[in-house]
Amino acid sequence: MRIFAAASEIFPLAKTGGLADVTGALPGALAGHGMGVVTVVPGYPAVLAALEDHAVVHGYGDLFGGKARLLKGRARGLDIIAVDAPHLYDRPGNIYLGPDGKDWPDNARRFAALSKAAADLACGKAGEDGADILHCHDWQTALAPVYVKFAGGKKPAKTVMTVHNIAFQGQFPASIFGTLGLPAQAFAIDGLEYYGNVGFLKGGLATADRITTVSPSYAQEICTPEFGMGLDGLLRARRDVLAGIVNGIDEAVWDPARDPHLPQTYGAKTLDRRTANKRAVEQRFQLAQGDGILHGVVSRLTWQKGMDIFVACLDALVAGGARLALIGAGEADIEKAILAAAQRHPGRIGAVLGYDEGLSHLIQAGCDTILVPSRFEPCGLTQLYGLRYGCLPVVARTGGLNDTVIDANDAAIRAGVATGFQFSPVDQATLAHALARAADCYADPSLWRGMQKRAMASDVSWSRSAAAYVQLYRNLLKA
Ligand code: ADP
Ligand code: GLC
Repeated sequence: MRIFAAASEIFPLAKTGGLADVTGALPGALAGHGMGVVTVVPGYPAVLAALEDHAVVHGYGDLFGGKARLLKGRARGLDIIAVDAPHLYDRPGNIYLGPDGKDWPDNARRFAALSKAAADLACGKAGEDGADILHCHDWQTALAPVYVKFAGGKKPAKTVMTVHNIAFQGQFPASIFGTLGLPAQAFAIDGLEYYGNVGFLKGGLATADRITTVSPSYAQEICTPEFGMGLDGLLRARRDVLAGIVNGIDEAVWDPARDPHLPQTYGAKTLDRRTANKRAVEQRFQLAQGDGILHGVVSRLTWQKGMDIFVACLDALVAGGARLALIGAGEADIEKAILAAAQRHPGRIGAVLGYDEGLSHLIQAGCDTILVPSRFEPCGLTQLYGLRYGCLPVVARTGGLNDTVIDANDAAIRAGVATGFQFSPVDQATLAHALARAADCYADPSLWRGMQKRAMASDVSWSRSAAAYVQLYRNLLKA
């Protein structure tokens, strides 16, 4: 089976969030099933720099405003085809945002080009033999199934559209339609037309052969008006081709026994060694040394992640005797409120604003809990890293958080199955109550230790989910 994937991010070459972790790890997991995946990605500077021994598989005289080449090769262990289009991707800084913090003004063209290249490759129109399956991730590649359906030619690939976050849809004015190189009938209800505009994700969801999202709970939720962000009607109509497959994690990158970012590695049998990492977190985040509960946050600082509610809880968190180490970046108001709280509570709240992969590992290895108070969460990876590192998740009961953490209610504690703490709805009172429950359990060291061991034994690998994708691909080819 020949499989192409298409994505705007892939770890370790380009990452702004969990999407990259998934597109970076899934090919390795599928390789375990004998399936090779080649991922089509934008030729950002970091991608081109990492590409080894590449071959030029196709050239475009004009791909959305300039010359482009498709370069196939290996990069940091991944098989990729990079879309080398300097006029679209050769820019410094964030892959989506310009220096002003706003979306690059030509993002529609940048990601239409990525989608077009992926569709051409998959349909054998760009120098390669074509693919059986083209697996697209999020709005940035969602035009690919539209190109396959309306301009795929004689050998159209079967398409899978995976939604990692339905809040990001790629909507643009109708005036861009003429630049996309699609036939007029693509601007219709069964194509990419969306309330008179062009909707990239809408188009992908309307035209892909199969739709998946990253947890069973989120698959249900996005079919409701509350979570569907306007696309719930379409998803309800296509429910028969929609499935929820929970993400796994890359267990080689996230392994407390071998993690190069940690001052002290450890395993489930050597949990005492975590203390050295707690000391390192205290130092790095300028916290007072202590053995009391230390909460951790690694997050985009946004409304989705419930961070506005979280910052409103910080005084109470400190009053309850807890400490916090946080790394994150995002909305200016939230960043400001966190800095102010850190100033109000020196030694109790430590915050680093920015993005730092190494520090995110240290937090998981040294804090007692990882907090994820999201209003919605398609899957969430930070709680999975928390489970693997014995950093117990305190999470909102939504989406993938609901599917991956077992709440420490009385029954679960008595049955010996709890791995974390859940709360809902997401508001200050329920979050404060969850933090209090965590602190109560923490005060009972044998209970806590048991939960940590169980968390670390949870199956957060890709094995089951990779098998589910394999099954999906097989069924699709039979269909
Ligand atoms: P989302 O993709 O919605 O942001 P996920 O939980 O799926 O949420 O994935 C977030 C990923 O980004 C995780 O790998 C997490 O460790 C990482 N991450 C988020 N914020 C930061 C940060 N400030 N520094 C380092 N890593 C971060
Ligand atoms: C998105 C979602 C997150 C998910 C990630 C990877 O960024 O917000 O919940 O874990 O994609 O699928």
